[in-house]
Amino acid sequence: MPTQKLLKVWTDKQIAQMHNAIFVAEHRLAELDWFSDEELARTLDAHPRQDLGVNTMGTDPARRQDWQEGNAGDLDGRTLLEVTKHGRLWLNLRRVIDHHPQYRRIVNQLYGELELACGCGPISGRSANLLISAPEAIVYYHVDCPANMLWHIRGTKRVWAYPLESGILSAATIEAVLCGEKSEEIEYRPELDQYAVVVDLEPGQMITWPQHTPHRVVNTGGLNVSLSTEHMTRRTLRKNNVYLANRHFRRMLGGGFASTQIDGLVPAVKELAIRVARRLPLVAPVPPRGFKYPVTFQVDPDAPHGVRRIEAPAATPPSASGTMPIAVAMSDAHDFNVPTMG
Ligand SMILES: [Fe+2]
Repeated sequence: MPTQKLLKVWTDKQIAQMHNAIFVAEHRLAELDWFSDEELARTLDAHPRQDLGVNTMGTDPARRQDWQEGNAGDLDGRTLLEVTKHGRLWLNLRRVIDHHPQYRRIVNQLYGELELACGCGPISGRSANLLISAPEAIVYYHVDCPANMLWHIRGTKRVWAYPLESGILSAATIEAVLCGEKSEEIEYRPELDQYAVVVDLEPGQMITWPQHTPHRVVNTGGLNVSLSTEHMTRRTLRKNNVYLANRHFRRMLGGGFASTQIDGLVPAVKELAIRVARRLPLVAPVPPRGFKYPVTFQVDPDAPHGVRRIEAPAATPPSASGTMPIAVAMSDAHDFNVPTMG
């Protein structure tokens, strides 16, 4: 357990911006001994395979259909790590705080320091995934439902974050994402990059942004290792519930329900109403649905990019609109991410 603080030189000005702007700060995770090849291999070996995501992808950020789910087979951690270094893989060790006590301690220390620093009250719904990805891996344009933070530890990556003030993400899109439905509006187009804040992330830096900020990532060098944490606060929960209440009651009652304000009496009533509605079978919204990719490749150290194609199984369950849900599909923290709204 580290004896010193993990947040490094966070100024009051930075802390004030944390939930309101695209925010980069420094941390000390990269100084721990846990992220050497040997330790990563050990963690991979100890990690339950059902919570190990293995993906590959193309090179064009506009072709997210190239994102593919794979199978690690019986390869050990050291081999997986070597293939990732030289291939085109993205490994997602999901729920590390549930599976590895040392990660639970460190994530809780991070959040404890965050609670003290920002004075934002208890931060609940904590989860963390360890991401290990190839030197040229990419994560396609997407939006996440909870608040999330990317704590970068090894390698370098370029992050594009698209400020919500740019208006490129409509309320209808956010509502659809929260429901796990496909929404064409969030499809990436290169011209959206004119709105992006671009950050070259180095080991020892973290990045976060206001909830629902769309983003994408391109690795730029070396084996990349990051810890992705997600959490909910009263405000992030309220925000999601307001969007879902707007959608539900607009469909049920027609008109109105457009405001996405989260402060004040009306948003509080909206949140209460949607929470009550979920418990009443006759008026309950359809629960969010997850999406699971078909497994289309096997990790193979001898195959190009470490990827050996296999026969795709039967088609995956479609979403309500018959197409791929976005947040669920592309979250860099989960590949099966149905948000809990309380
Ligand atoms: Fe993300």
